[in-house]
Order: sequence, then structure tokens, then C-alpha cells
Amino acid sequence: MMKLRSIELALPKAADAHSWMIDIWGCADGGRIGDTFYLRGSGTYPYLMAIAESADNFVRSTTFVCSPERLAQVALAATKRGLNAAPCVSSDPGGGHGIVVELAEGELLRFLVDAAEVAPIEGHAKATRRVMPVKLTHVVFNAADAEASGDIVEEVLGFRVSDRTKGMVFVRCNEAHHSTAFARAGFSSLNHVAFEMEDLDAVMRGIGSMRDHGFAPAWGPGRHGPGDNVYAYYIAPFGPVIEYSTAVEKVGEDYQAGEPDDWTWPEKRIDQWGVSDKDFAGLRVAEEAFRFRREWQPAPINELTGA
Ligand SMILES: [Fe+2]
Repeated sequence: MMKLRSIELALPKAADAHSWMIDIWGCADGGRIGDTFYLRGSGTYPYLMAIAESADNFVRSTTFVCSPERLAQVALAATKRGLNAAPCVSSDPGGGHGIVVELAEGELLRFLVDAAEVAPIEGHAKATRRVMPVKLTHVVFNAADAEASGDIVEEVLGFRVSDRTKGMVFVRCNEAHHSTAFARAGFSSLNHVAFEMEDLDAVMRGIGSMRDHGFAPAWGPGRHGPGDNVYAYYIAPFGPVIEYSTAVEKVGEDYQAGEPDDWTWPEKRIDQWGVSDKDFAGLRVAEEAFRFRREWQPAPINELTGA
């Protein structure tokens, strides 16, 4: 078992970002611990995004929850590969313990076991006439060498490459077509964070709610090729690219990974619907706003590997 759970960011004016994500984006308040603010969805994870107060923007980690067996496999493979890693005990809501691993381009991935879940939030749409994200569906990274990043997550994390396009290497860790991807960007950073909405109607109502508050999509609505998911991307006022998404394709073990030539578009098209323009320049700036910063010292994780 392996599931994407949350992303942990640090940025200035964390309290303002937290409020915006609740009042405008539709997340629920996941509480506060010290200078770190938490946002949850309607699903069973205690939080989806942590925002720590900091003088500048950076990504602290992206968190997956997994079985003890998978944790041991990842720990063994990360040790074999010689990656920076350390044992960790989560002080975030839900707790849990495990390891944090630094990939080749500085991406910081945390793997937890024994992390608690919470009761889902039911009936919020009826009560508030608002939409609320359910959970995260993918976190995408920019990479200098996206192929190498795809290789390393297959080798070390046991993830599988689902598709390759001219722009991206899509990677899955369960039956969802992708939970992460590496963009062929030429540099390493956070590309975007996608929130799973209940259905297409919830995405459209989310776009309407954002419009009520004066925000237009930087790209979308549209439907992607690989993964077949619906999207609407926004540049959050506190920096990063965030997405309403839904209906990502489910794939089996036998899914045949497509190559860039399998995913070409007709002229003037970059998605299935073709109803929206894309703010390439604005997105590019936002996609460089959050780099990775390792706040911990590498330490042996051998006790988790059984070695
Ligand atoms: Fe996305």
C-alpha cells in the first residue's frame, strides 16, 4: 500500500495563506501547531497541506503513507542507492513515523506508517453551497533530468512510470494513473499541487467560486491526455500553482506506458477539450517559486531495512 497524503510547505505570512486556502480555495481548517498551519479536505486525512511560517518559500517534504513492508523496501533500496535519508517521527496531525528520503535533484519525500486518519466531512456542499477538495491527487515536480527521476523512483520507491510525453514523465504508486510526475523543466522545483474534487461538477463549481472571488484559471478547465483527468490550474496569491482536478484514470499492472509520440495533439491543441488558453509565462514563474530545502541531517535507516 502506498498513497500520496500531503505536502509540507514553508513561506512568509503563513497565516494569510492558510486563511486564503480556507476562505477562497475551499479547504477545511486542519488546525495549527506552533507556527505551522494545516489544511484538510473532506476525506480521511488529517491534513493535505502544511504551511509553516518562514522568511522565504520552500518545500519541506511531500508525504506518502504506506505499509510497514513498503517502508522497509524503500529504506533498503534508498540505502543501497546511497541516497540521503533519515528516520523521522511526524509531529504533524495524525503523527506516524518512518523515513524521509532526498532524491537526486533534492526532492524530499517522506514515507509514514501508523499515521492516524480522521472522520470524513459529510454534507459540506449542501450546508455551505461551497466546494471542498477531498484529498490531494498528485504533486508534480520540475526536474533537470525527468527521465533520471523516473528511473530513481522506479528503482528506489517501487513506483512505475505510466506515461512519457514531450513535457512530463508520469509516475504511479497505486492504481491511479499518476500520483506524481516529473516535468522536463531543466531545473528542480515544485511544479504544482493538485487537489482531488468529488466530480466534474465540483471542479466547475470550484471555478465559479474562484471567479466570484476575482480569480481566473491560469489554465483550464480542460481534460488532459495522460491520466484523462479534468483540471483547472490557478496561481495562488502566496506563490505556488494549485489545481482542482478530478477523475484521474485508474490503471492496472498491465498498463502499457505510452511514449511522447503516443501523446501528440492536433495543431493549436494541448488538451482534449480545447476550450481554454494557458498562461505559460505566469505559470513558469509560479513553478519556480518553491525549491526543496532539506532541514535534517542524513542518518542511518538500517534498523528499518532488517539489514
Ligand atoms: Fe496536474
